[in-house]
Amino acid sequence: MKVNKIIAGLGLMMLSACASTPASQIDVDKTLHYCDVQIHKTLNSLHQADSMDYTMMPRNILQGETKWNLRKATKEEWTAGFWPGVLWYDYEATGNDSIKEEADKFTRSLGFLAEIPAYDHDLGFLVFCSYGNGYRLTGNEEYKKVILAVSDTLATLYKPAVGAILSWPRNVEMFGGHNTIMDNMINLEMLFWAAKNGGNKHLYDIAVAHADKTMENQFREDYTSYHVAVYDTITGECINRCTHQGYADNSMWARGQAWAIYGYTVVYRETREPKYLDFAKKVAQVYLDRLPEDYIPYWDFSAPGIPNAPRDASAACVVASALLELSTFYTGEQADKYKNAAIKMLVSLDSDKYRAGETNHSLLLHSTGHWPNKSEIDASIIYADYYYMEALLRLKKINEGKSIY
Ligand code: GLY
Repeated sequence: MKVNKIIAGLGLMMLSACASTPASQIDVDKTLHYCDVQIHKTLNSLHQADSMDYTMMPRNILQGETKWNLRKATKEEWTAGFWPGVLWYDYEATGNDSIKEEADKFTRSLGFLAEIPAYDHDLGFLVFCSYGNGYRLTGNEEYKKVILAVSDTLATLYKPAVGAILSWPRNVEMFGGHNTIMDNMINLEMLFWAAKNGGNKHLYDIAVAHADKTMENQFREDYTSYHVAVYDTITGECINRCTHQGYADNSMWARGQAWAIYGYTVVYRETREPKYLDFAKKVAQVYLDRLPEDYIPYWDFSAPGIPNAPRDASAACVVASALLELSTFYTGEQADKYKNAAIKMLVSLDSDKYRAGETNHSLLLHSTGHWPNKSEIDASIIYADYYYMEALLRLKKINEGKSIY
């Protein structure tokens, strides 16, 4: 009797241990299917227009609205590569050729970027999410040409006197010098890729120099990041550190830290220099340590009104994807820690609270774009959907023992 009780108790303990294992709480295939259903709803509504315009990209669905606000794919529209990227990920998940055709058509709307000078640093977001995924999945040489040309264009914003890429040429006067924003870390992936895929080898050096300069100047002692670093254009000295989209110059803007976690993970992948892995680990840890219980950050870690401040699901998606990659650089407990944290984020995002479901045609609710500007607060935003799908696909591949690339 006593033995039976002990066995039953052990069984219960094992059951509850399994129930609290995050990996058992998300059915990735089912969630990817949900994404496919939502994407078809968006495509159907885009095709209902009198004439389908492949230069118009879904950008956001604001609170109280139900339809995507579309933005023309211009050099100023930094988010224009995410919708084609969402379609490429859906094609990767489903193998559906009609999605591939849609992805191709939207992607080609950004081809003009290969023929014009750089407007700003967002070229990696614009071209690597669209053409980059397209090339990865199809091997289409035309796509590769665009990526290589645009990488050279992005490199023109690299300023040797500073040792970093200038993010916003139009804002040099406003900031009083060369400005580099944390988001710029994401554009490095395209430069690394170009350097090893037939592009100029110098692109690798630019990416590394940018990562080093940012590491030296754009973080506080506790590894939280400043959104903007301003450098003297002649001496390269850092003369100011401030915010643009965060709550305060000294606060941790959630998506800024997300870009840092993702960016240094990529820099480690491409260089295999341990100092970048160590740095990715540190910038991830301070973010993880300060998360609320559901692992979806408030839009800024010092946002006014916490716990009622808006969340930023987009930051959670970026970090989930980055942590899944980070987990592949470790074994044992450290790998499990990152994978389980990412799963915890994805489980929350998969809940009724964050899923767009019947509310609108996006994948996710509750992202915050630019709080100081009072724009895109608590909205569906296309880059949340992009990194959500990336994270889900990475998790699927990791679970299947496959490479995530
Ligand atoms: N790159 C701008 C943003 O993260 O909102």
